[in-house]
Amino acid sequence: MRRKRDRGIQGTTERIDRMKILVTGGAGFIGSNFILYMLNKYRDYDIVNLDKLTYAGNPENLENAMNNKHYTFVKGDIADAGLVRGIMDKGIDAVVNFAAESHVDRSILEPASFIKTNILGTQVLLDIAREKHIARFVQISTDEVYGSLGSTGRFTETTPVQPNSPYSASKASADMVVLAYYRTFGMPVVITRTSNNYGPYQFPEKLLPLAITNIMEEKPVPIYGDGMYVRDWIFVTDNAEAIDMVLHSGKDGEVYNIGAGYESANLSLIKTVLRLMHKPESFITHVKDRPGHDRRYAMDPSKIMNELGWSPRTSIEHGLELTIDWYTANRKWWRRIKSGEYMTYYEKNYSVKGLRTH
Ligand code: NAD
Ligand code: DAU
Repeated sequence: MRRKRDRGIQGTTERIDRMKILVTGGAGFIGSNFILYMLNKYRDYDIVNLDKLTYAGNPENLENAMNNKHYTFVKGDIADAGLVRGIMDKGIDAVVNFAAESHVDRSILEPASFIKTNILGTQVLLDIAREKHIARFVQISTDEVYGSLGSTGRFTETTPVQPNSPYSASKASADMVVLAYYRTFGMPVVITRTSNNYGPYQFPEKLLPLAITNIMEEKPVPIYGDGMYVRDWIFVTDNAEAIDMVLHSGKDGEVYNIGAGYESANLSLIKTVLRLMHKPESFITHVKDRPGHDRRYAMDPSKIMNELGWSPRTSIEHGLELTIDWYTANRKWWRRIKSGEYMTYYEKNYSVKGLRTH
C-alpha cells in the first residue's frame, strides 16, 4: 500500500490524480449526492458504491453515474464480512460510511435494524478496513448524538454525547466504536457530524420532501406537536463538499461538526416553503408529537471552518428554492416512491435482475 500522503489524504496540495473510494449507502439521499459530486469533481477517482437497497435506497438516484466507467455498484450489506472483504481485496484507498437506517420515527417503531446496521455494520467495515490497512475511514454521523439543546448554546465537538432516540443512540454507539479503533489500533478514522440535510433525492418521509410533495399533491403537511422544534438546516451539496474536505484533509481521530447555521422552528420553515410555493398556511395540520422529540439542535462548525477552510455556500432561501424546483421537475421520481412502484421500477426498466431482496 502506498503511503497516505501519496493517496491524496491529509493535505490537498499533495493530492494525486487517482483514488479508489468505497462509499457505503450511496443509493440513499446524501450518499448519492456525494457520489455525483465526487465523480464530477475528480474525473479519475474510482467509486464503488455498496448499498443494500433497503426501502431508502434507490438506484435511480445514480442514473447519471451508471455509464461512468469510474463508478461501480455492488448490492449488499455492510454487515456481510465476506462481501466487504471481497471489495476491499480489490484495492480500496478510503471508505466513506453513509450506510445506515436513518429515520428517527422508524427507529421508534422498530429499533433492531438500527442496531444491526448502524453499530454492527460499522464494526464489520472497521475490522476489514483495519485488516486491509485502508488509509482513511470516514464515518458519517449526526448532530443528534449530542441530544437536545435548550433555547441557547450550540453543539461543539467536545459536547458530551447524550442521544435520546434509538436512531441517535445507534449512531452515537458507532461513533464510540470508531474512536475506539483510533485509540486502540491507531486506525486513520475521522467522523463528520452533520445537521439536518435537505435537497434533491431526499426520501419523502423526511419533513421537507414530505411537505413539498404533499403540497404539490394538495395534501396537508403534518407538523408534530406545537411545531416549535428547532433544526439547523444545510443544503446537501454543502455537506458533500465538507465531507470531501474531511476525507482529504481531516486529522486522524478527530470529529468535525458540519452545519450551515440556518436554525429554524419546523413551523416557520414550513411557512417559508408554503410562501415560496404560493400556497396558504391552511395546509399545516398539527398532529401527535414524536415520543422523546429533541427540542433543539444547533451546530458550531468553527472547527471545520478554521482548520479545513470549509464554509457553506447555499443560503436557506436559495436552497429551498433549488429543492422545490428539483421536486417540481422530478415528479415521476417521488411519485414512484410514494406509490411504492420504485421498489421494482429500476429492475423492470433497466434489465437489472435481483436488485432487491425484499
Ligand atoms: P438514507 O436513509 O437516505 O440512505 C441510507 C442508505 O443506506 C440507503 O441507500 C440504504 O439502502 C443504505 N443501507 C441501509 N442499510 C444498509 C446496510 N446494512 N448495508 C448497506 N447499505 C445500507 O440516509 P441519508 O439521509 O442519506 O443519511 C446518510 C447518512 O448520513 C446516515 O449515516 C445518517 O445517519 C447520516 N446523516 C443524515 C442526515 C440527514 O439529514 N439526512 C444528517 C446527519 C447525518
Ligand atoms: O439532525 C440530523 C438528522 O436529521 C439525521 O441524523 C437523520 O438521519 C435525519 O432523518 C434527520 O432527523 P430529524 O428527525 O431531525 O428529521 P425529520 O425530517 O424526520 O424531522 C425534522 C423535524 O420535523 C423534527 O423535529 C420532526 C419534525 N417532523 C417530521 C416529520 C417527518 C414533523 O413535524 N412532521 C413530520 O411529518
